[in-house]
Amino acid sequence: MKKILVATGGGDCPGLNAVIRGLVKAAKTSGDWEVWGSKEAFNGLMSTPTDLVKLTPKRVAGIHVRGGTIIKTTNKGNPIAYPVPQEDGSVELVDRSQELKQKLEDLNFSAVVNIGGDGSQRISQHLFEQGVPVIGVPKTIDNDLGSTDYTFGFSTAVQIATDCFDKLVTTAESHHRIIIMEVMGRDAGWIALHTAIAGGAEICLIPEIPYSIEKIKKKIDKRYKKGKGFMNIVIAEGAKPLDGEVVGSVAHDAGDPHLKLGGICNSLRFELERMGCQPQIRTTVLGHIQRGGTPVAFDRILATAMGVKAFELVAAGEFGEMVSYQNNKFVSVPLKEAVKANKVVTPDHELVRTARAIGLSFGD
Ligand code: F6P
Repeated sequence: MKKILVATGGGDCPGLNAVIRGLVKAAKTSGDWEVWGSKEAFNGLMSTPTDLVKLTPKRVAGIHVRGGTIIKTTNKGNPIAYPVPQEDGSVELVDRSQELKQKLEDLNFSAVVNIGGDGSQRISQHLFEQGVPVIGVPKTIDNDLGSTDYTFGFSTAVQIATDCFDKLVTTAESHHRIIIMEVMGRDAGWIALHTAIAGGAEICLIPEIPYSIEKIKKKIDKRYKKGKGFMNIVIAEGAKPLDGEVVGSVAHDAGDPHLKLGGICNSLRFELERMGCQPQIRTTVLGHIQRGGTPVAFDRILATAMGVKAFELVAAGEFGEMVSYQNNKFVSVPLKEAVKANKVVTPDHELVRTARAIGLSFGD
């Protein structure tokens, strides 16, 4: 039997288990391959002793319905910039890709399937350049990976955010309040845009369209003057005011200090209150709830098909590719192309036009 190693890296996302199940079942059907999981991204492979788990069809039965990842994940353990603590307390980032390649060979692995977002696929590309036979599978709730129309997890995040939005509408309405709901998405406004349209928000603020606080205040005043005494706003965590900055806090959890976005809804509330906004304002940060729980049917299907496609690429020996969903087809694109640029909302995107046509303001 030939062996595939599968790893899930970066933040978790509904649908990861469905990819694993699709891959394992397709491998089983082929009769020639078996699949092993590396625990916590590549850490399971790199650690001594290794922490690998054989993924039999029995082990993956029914897991497509479960959120998270049965082989766990981490954003600490990038094999090409591995954080190694130094004696003086500093952290040095070390490229361990040759060691990883050697370990794969020693353990007789013929292929690697790396399921992850843009960071993980950059790792895939680097490993491929180092001679590792790797296939990437794109995952992220943010839907910001280029070269694929959708990533699994996104539709689930939008559904969760929309369900929460619907609940916030009834409480905003009852109290004549403004409720600002903050959603994830990093530097892309896809979750916010979809949720705002699905929920029927009055204002949607996204990173790609910096907002004017004056315009938002005007829109609020106009709506309250009309007697519609409540308002629901969706704001993406990466949104920022014109001439302003994103809001977040520095985290050190991935080896190097980086900004974790979050809290822009409270800055907006503060600014509106400072400008004399009369209605009461409340804020809700949805946070990781958007990544939890069972994937919606669309994501289960997308993820299953991506797992199967990943196996097909392995069986055909087409390494250095990332599985992609384009125009209703499961295809593949070179990893090199896939990681070139992230996909963000363009101001002329048809959903932006749709939103504007129904009176949704972007605060611009
Ligand atoms: O990329 C997915 C995502 O959920 C982003 O939307 C968010 O900014 C980030 O991950 C949060 O990361 P962490 O899991 O490290 O808190």
